Amino acid sequence: MDKINEIDWYQTPLYYDIIFDVDTGEEADFIEAMHSRHGTGTKQPSNLELACGTGRVMRELASRGWSSAGFDASEAMLEFAWLRHKQMGLKAKLWKDRMESFSVPRAQKFDVIHCLVSTFKYLTSEKNARGCLEKSVKALKKGGLLIIGLHLTDYDHDGITHERWVEERNGIEVVCNTRTWPADPKKRTEKIRSRLCITHSDGLVRKQETHWTGRTYSAAQLKRLINSAPQLQLVACHDFNHDENVTRALDDSYADIVVALKRL
Ligand SMILES: C[S@@+](CC[C@H](N)C(=O)[O-])C[C@H]1O[C@@H](n2cnc3c(N)ncnc32)[C@H](O)[C@@H]1O
Repeated sequence: MDKINEIDWYQTPLYYDIIFDVDTGEEADFIEAMHSRHGTGTKQPSNLELACGTGRVMRELASRGWSSAGFDASEAMLEFAWLRHKQMGLKAKLWKDRMESFSVPRAQKFDVIHCLVSTFKYLTSEKNARGCLEKSVKALKKGGLLIIGLHLTDYDHDGITHERWVEERNGIEVVCNTRTWPADPKKRTEKIRSRLCITHSDGLVRKQETHWTGRTYSAAQLKRLINSAPQLQLVACHDFNHDENVTRALDDSYADIVVALKRL
């Protein structure tokens, strides 16, 4: 078997961007719909992306006229986000920070704060998850929304879950195979491995893998977390299809959940 390098995927932002960019338009449509239906509805809205990565979602919103800001813990991801904004002639505030303890320059307040694709699960303790909600409450305008999308865990499932994505951009094909091992219900953690096979048009092939640990949530555990922040009220629950017209109950009948929480 070819050698597989163990590397932090976020050190190779281009490959991340190629895989995840496919849903960006739909996610931005959804954020705009939630803002109009449940948020402040202001005509010149502002957004903050928690752990913005390559900045794909905030970039899309900036191109639609939003005043965009984002931060991330990874310098490589931030550098990529900054360059892409620059190449596209878009303005955005970007800085290095952490979800559990962030502070916003000049205490700016936002109409929408968003954190999709299970990124919130990188907050591996209850203290850090609550810290992130507290910081978000501080950074939201009254009536603004915190939108979080995450995959709920079925603690009864004892097999390995496998997902596979294939995307291509400018002659670079990226195949991503992700495995998630059964959760540890006591620690509320799950082990995840993402293995990438990257093929460049000149024939160069790279293989790399990253191991992660995520915090797990059942619907009840997510509800408890939301209830621990009395200034946030659940106003809508959808799924990863990001269809504004399809709502879901916040229960364990569906795994890929997106909640919109309103700042009271
Ligand atoms: C799955 S990516 C999501 C990126 C982007 N939000 C998106 O939707 O494409 C996860 C990102 O979270 C960042 N990250 C992980 N833990 C973090 C933390 N505690 N604070 C800030 N960023 C963090 C990683 O560096 C990475 O860029």
